[in-house]
Amino acid sequence: MVLRDKSVVLGVTGSIAAYKAADLASKLTQAGAAVDVVMTRAATEFIAPLTFRSITHRPVSSSMFNAPTEYEIEHIALAERADVIAIAPATADIIARLAAGIADDLLCCTVLATRAPVILAPAMNVNMWENPITQENLERLRARGFRVVEPGYGAMACGATGAGRLADTERILGTIQQVLGSGGDLAGKCVVVTAGGTQEPIDPVRHIGNRSSGKMGYALAEAARDRGAEVTLISAPTSLAEPVGVETVHVQTALEMRQAVLDAVSTADVLIMAAAVADYRPANAGKTKIKKESAADMTLELVRTPDILSEVKGGLVKVGFAAESEDLVKNAVAKLKEKGLDLIVANDITAADSGFDVDTNRVVLIDGKGNQEELPLLPKPGVAHRILDRVADILAAKKM
Ligand code: C5P
Repeated sequence: MVLRDKSVVLGVTGSIAAYKAADLASKLTQAGAAVDVVMTRAATEFIAPLTFRSITHRPVSSSMFNAPTEYEIEHIALAERADVIAIAPATADIIARLAAGIADDLLCCTVLATRAPVILAPAMNVNMWENPITQENLERLRARGFRVVEPGYGAMACGATGAGRLADTERILGTIQQVLGSGGDLAGKCVVVTAGGTQEPIDPVRHIGNRSSGKMGYALAEAARDRGAEVTLISAPTSLAEPVGVETVHVQTALEMRQAVLDAVSTADVLIMAAAVADYRPANAGKTKIKKESAADMTLELVRTPDILSEVKGGLVKVGFAAESEDLVKNAVAKLKEKGLDLIVANDITAADSGFDVDTNRVVLIDGKGNQEELPLLPKPGVAHRILDRVADILAAKKM
């Protein structure tokens, strides 16, 4: 959402990874950004400008000396209209030229002339990456406020293995979102989000778990980041990738989650418990694998886990979830009171398109004053932003 109607200048330089920039341009465009691609001459040897023009539906620039299109002085116009400039892939050459303040092509001039934040996603051979010249150039640029999306480790086109692969599109995209959202309505706020379903060991190979995928909590963490918050995500096991720009703490059990939450909330303004915390855990987890005894049945003794939300006290805004299969609002209101919450997100888990392990959710938001807001079926990131709209209102009302 933070990308909608934003102007993104995407610089593409001459690396074999240039083809991956097409995917980035596509995702940025799909998210509603106006993407102006600026290519170096070397980049046009790897991928045709037509590819980017077709994806972005906008002119692609590569030369200072083209006949003017919609811009009068192109590098100045691009530099001024940009909300953010991202260079992906960024070669050792562009990094060196930017560090030296050289302005001999359209991309360098645009970066030199802009006041917008600049993000670099380097891609190069491992030896070029590790070369102190490259690292010193990057250090100079970092000191000037450039954001660097660290390259990944793996096999390279040149046959070597090591650091220097262009970071995944999702990482570059996440960094662009974080940079664009840094002045948002949660700027300066510290938000703790829990996600996923805890796992309570029975023995070293078995556990009691639930069907939570973590998608709602991860969407909340990313949405809070995109509105400028400093986010800590406390995650029970999920198959989701760690969000960019979010401090992620991995836990397994309810007791571990309790400790991580209590540690994190001392400096937090907001706690959102989206995790499905197990209510019971095996009283005595086996140290070794429990053997089945011929045909005999087995009884597992369970004990209650502590209620984390109820334990957290203090002036912070507390948001809980109520996953219910009956009497949705009645049960949610009871939980809101019981746990001393500012807001509860009531979630009907009986519908196939809502609740656990799907990409959409249908919820009712209920606040401490009894106001109810029934949201339509929305993708989870959309639900996350509607929850954060309410959190921002509550923070403003509490003058936090
Ligand atoms: O009581 P119930 O589990 O339905 O409450 C759901 C809400 O309480 C969720 O926000 C969940 O993360 C939180 N919770 C908790 N500690 C527990 C169980 C649930 O904080 N032990």
